[in-house]
Amino acid sequence: MKIIAIISQKGGAGKTTLAVHLATAAIAAGYTTAIIDLDPQGTAASWGDRRTAGAPEVISGQAVRLPALTTAARENGADIVILDTAPNADQTASLSARAADLVLIPCRPSTFDLEAIETTLLLAKAAKKPAYVVLNAVPPRSGIGKEATEGLRAGGAQVAPHQLSQRAAYGHSVIDGRTAQEFEPGGKAADEIVVLFKWVCGIVDMPTRGQAKKVA
Ligand SMILES: Nc1ncnc2c1ncn2[C@@H]1O[C@H](COP(=O)(O)OP(=O)(O)OP(=O)(O)O)[C@@H](O)[C@H]1O
Ligand SMILES: [Mg+2]
Repeated sequence: MKIIAIISQKGGAGKTTLAVHLATAAIAAGYTTAIIDLDPQGTAASWGDRRTAGAPEVISGQAVRLPALTTAARENGADIVILDTAPNADQTASLSARAADLVLIPCRPSTFDLEAIETTLLLAKAAKKPAYVVLNAVPPRSGIGKEATEGLRAGGAQVAPHQLSQRAAYGHSVIDGRTAQEFEPGGKAADEIVVLFKWVCGIVDMPTRGQAKKVA
């Protein structure tokens, strides 16, 4: 079982968007997937409540209970657990990063967001886990994503080679508990998520299709 923590001290960076979209991509790829919502705002859990499909299971919890929650997920057959975390919550973020196999740090490519990322990068570094910035809400057809990537890399951060653009489907789809892949299959947002998910699989050393792994 692989644990992916999504952390960012900055509010509204796209943590929950990334969590629910990666989770449904993992399910579509045949992986038993759960989200643990560690944010008292409960955004991912409310998304789960609105969702009509059974999976992923969304469990609300507190970071201090992560060992018990992840053990339960493992015993229930989870292949992938995604931790959605709260902004401005050092303890939750660091416990999540420590529990994780991979830390993803969504960040908007704006000056204010890029300036604020240092605290999150330090937190991930302290956990000694592979950590990558995932640029989110990048204006399509602009050089902004490339510029931000270069700036972050120059500052020593690892940046995912794939980013998510600013697209209405990310916001619209979650209204009724779906994600962009389900709302607009084959759309640009759906494609971005699949590409990002496949890259994540490579980083955590999982085949890109879960069923194939189980059958083999
Ligand atoms: N790539 C995107 N394109 C369009 N809208 C986006 C994108 N990513 C996030 N959003 C929107 O931005 C808002 C904040 O996103 P989200 O809730 O995922 O951030 P968050 O980091 O989880 O916030 P918080 O820190 O409050 O938990 C939401 O309304 C979401 O729909
Ligand atoms: Mg959130």
